Amino acid sequence: MTTKSEQLFNKAKQVMPGGVSRNTIFRKPYPFYAASGKGCYVTDVEGVTRIDFANNMASLIHGHAYAPIVEAVSEQLTKGSCFTMATEAEIEYAALLCERVPSFDKIRFVNSGTEAVMAMLKASRAYTGKAKIAKVEGAYHGAYDYAEVSQTANPSNWGDIDKPNSTPVAVGTPEKALEDVVVIPFNDVDRAIKILDQHKDEIACILVDLLPHRVGLIPASDEFVCALRKWADDNASLLVFDEVITFRTNYSGAQQNYSVNPDLTAMGKMIGGGFPTGAFAGADKVMKVLDPTEPKVLLPHSGTFSANPVTMTAGLIAMRDFDQKAVDKLNDLATYARTEITKVIKDVGIAACVTGAGTMFRVHLKAQPPKNYRQAYADKEESKHVNALLEHMFANGVMLINTCSATLSTTMTIKEIDHLVATFKSGFEMLLPKITK
Ligand SMILES: Cc1ncc(COP(=O)(O)O)c(C=O)c1O
Repeated sequence: MTTKSEQLFNKAKQVMPGGVSRNTIFRKPYPFYAASGKGCYVTDVEGVTRIDFANNMASLIHGHAYAPIVEAVSEQLTKGSCFTMATEAEIEYAALLCERVPSFDKIRFVNSGTEAVMAMLKASRAYTGKAKIAKVEGAYHGAYDYAEVSQTANPSNWGDIDKPNSTPVAVGTPEKALEDVVVIPFNDVDRAIKILDQHKDEIACILVDLLPHRVGLIPASDEFVCALRKWADDNASLLVFDEVITFRTNYSGAQQNYSVNPDLTAMGKMIGGGFPTGAFAGADKVMKVLDPTEPKVLLPHSGTFSANPVTMTAGLIAMRDFDQKAVDKLNDLATYARTEITKVIKDVGIAACVTGAGTMFRVHLKAQPPKNYRQAYADKEESKHVNALLEHMFANGVMLINTCSATLSTTMTIKEIDHLVATFKSGFEMLLPKITK
């Protein structure tokens, strides 16, 4: 007897490398295939329904098939999905986002988080006339050659913490790209500034995710962000934030929690209302590099599907309905989840901890919360246990992101969180005898 998913995977393998279009959804021995989703529940082709704490990698803020978006997008589709013309929808949505975030004077829409980060880095280069970028060790910023440097650094290649190596993700990454990326340790002001000082006059921007998922889902300290802001100002460089995920953590994004503003911000995921999107926004003086009415356009920038009215319509509704009240309510629910999981960890007596902020959290099989990428890094043994925990959660009706991270959607209630917590408890009990250190 084979499952429907297995049959689909056998077909998929014939036409896609490894049977998938994105490695994130691959599971051994084969991925599961979704049939439908409603609210915070997803039903697979086997007919099994689970609570969705993955939300398409943190991109759905109102869960699946959110009725106001379904209705508005269906209407837009009858009028056409994309044109070689601008539409009113993009102006309305741009105005909403600029109104929402104090650091946004101007905004441009693109089609993914990767594209948003790439365009933001290129805008920084065009504005400063410098080539290098600085980024935090291990931080994930999408697939642009420069942005992905050091993303998969490991103990065999990450080098001295006083000068972390620029390690490639993909084989064949140009040496020049590696040379043009300066890697700094997270939340370590002294080391970061010393490293930046070695590249004075060369750095276009410092790229920071304020709650970097792969660095452990721990918030950047205000001290760290302020020090980077000051260094950027002192050295004619820019400070730019990747809020592709973290925009969901507060009304004006995670930047609302800090005492300084970025020059530019990249967004994606949630702001598409369930459709592919990205955007970058920031100070007028920098965004001017894109302006086609300027005598010289420093960064010519376009994209066939950028700001298409389907995405703009969906995004506008998603963000309109994620107002301050909804943000507060969801953040409270996430705080409840983090508190309850921490209690269960203590009750079971397992060496584990919870990190995160806003609507997100991550469970680590470590006694203490990690402070940086090197501490968050899971060795083979830990990865094996994390995978066993994920399997247990999945078998018991809970879908998580594969780092054992969860993101909430506004359709969730205490009922779903209590199920999550109870499933973590039985998962920890299952793991406890297997963990030797
Ligand atoms: C922080 C961050 N930046 C950028 C990206 C890239 O976004 P996309 O997958 O839409 O290209 C991601 C995706 O997970 C992300 O988490």
